[in-house]
Amino acid sequence: MKEKFIQRFGFAPAAIAQAPGRLEVLGNHTDYNEGFVLSCAVGQNTRFALTPQETSRCQIVDFRSGEEMSFDLAAMDAPPPKNGSAYIIGMMNEMRKRGAEFTGFVAGLESDVPLSAGMSSSAALETAAGLALGKAFGFELDKAEWARAGQGVENNFLGLKTGLLDQFSSLFGKADNIIMSDFRSVEVIDTLPLQKGYVFVVVNSMIKHHLVDSDYNVRRENCESAAAKLAAVYPGIQTLRDITPEMLENAADHLSAMELARARHVVNECFRVQQAPAILRAGRMDDFGKLLYASHESSRVNFENSTPELDCLVELSTSIPGCIGARLSGGGFGGITIHLVESTEAERYSQRISAAYHSRTGITPQCFICSIGDGASLVES
Ligand code: GLA
Repeated sequence: MKEKFIQRFGFAPAAIAQAPGRLEVLGNHTDYNEGFVLSCAVGQNTRFALTPQETSRCQIVDFRSGEEMSFDLAAMDAPPPKNGSAYIIGMMNEMRKRGAEFTGFVAGLESDVPLSAGMSSSAALETAAGLALGKAFGFELDKAEWARAGQGVENNFLGLKTGLLDQFSSLFGKADNIIMSDFRSVEVIDTLPLQKGYVFVVVNSMIKHHLVDSDYNVRRENCESAAAKLAAVYPGIQTLRDITPEMLENAADHLSAMELARARHVVNECFRVQQAPAILRAGRMDDFGKLLYASHESSRVNFENSTPELDCLVELSTSIPGCIGARLSGGGFGGITIHLVESTEAERYSQRISAAYHSRTGITPQCFICSIGDGASLVES
């Protein structure tokens, strides 16, 4: 990164930061319901480097494609541009709200996080840019607040009402570990090593639904309206996080069929996540795999954020040796599935599931064995 920067601009970067993508391991659409999630940072990351300049112009070069993007500090209220600079502008707006001041700069970025797949390439870019901009312009936030700033980019600038999971996982991830987070207290409450002998194989369905953003926002509204109706039955509850599976079934008559189905997903996902630490600590990997399958089934039936292609991948996983659990990961409506696979079988499994998916759908999936990486950090510049 440093060398590419010097080659392009003729001087060294003032700051470089890296931020990884993430996998949502278990706990689907629970974050904005103030619930629990298991997630991890992945080995793939985004790097962002910059040096401030005495100008109001901000220039960013994407070192992968050579594409150049630029914008002026005076025009940052304009609607988001349709390229990666939207995430940088959004982040700078969030940092300004929190007191940061900027001059123009020249910057470079590169990444190996798959784009628009459900591995949070946008959160990785927001986080890497935020940390590097912070270093270069002498501005600091604590990690949870960096995550909120990244979430603010999505919520306030891009109009996507996402929760905190993506940025949070990118910042708090720990190599070789799954983190368990509580999105009410906004903290990591447990760190669970992934048992030796297992890896996550990521299989990208290569399908992205067109209306992902609006579908996501509608799901969030369904959860909020369910929680509001449940609060009339159970005074004091704030979000679906406060509801147990039993409380939900006892109050089923107070919800529409759709609200009940959406709430069933979230409430039982939170319940599944809470069972996971004991199961993982006891090395009961088959039982952990069952939780992953149950999560996917609930996405398919209750939350309706799966697609035929994601269902196909999860179904195929049951007939190929080596896999003990699989589910869609992330927002859904397309993107990736994660497969928990015995390490010794992982290569063969990847080949077999790619071939099987291709023969069923005609689509060649992107498929890779994922390592669990550390969270975002500054890199020596
Ligand atoms: C997307 C969002 C996250 C989270 C997941 C679903 O990744 O950005 O905040 O809601 O979907 O769990």
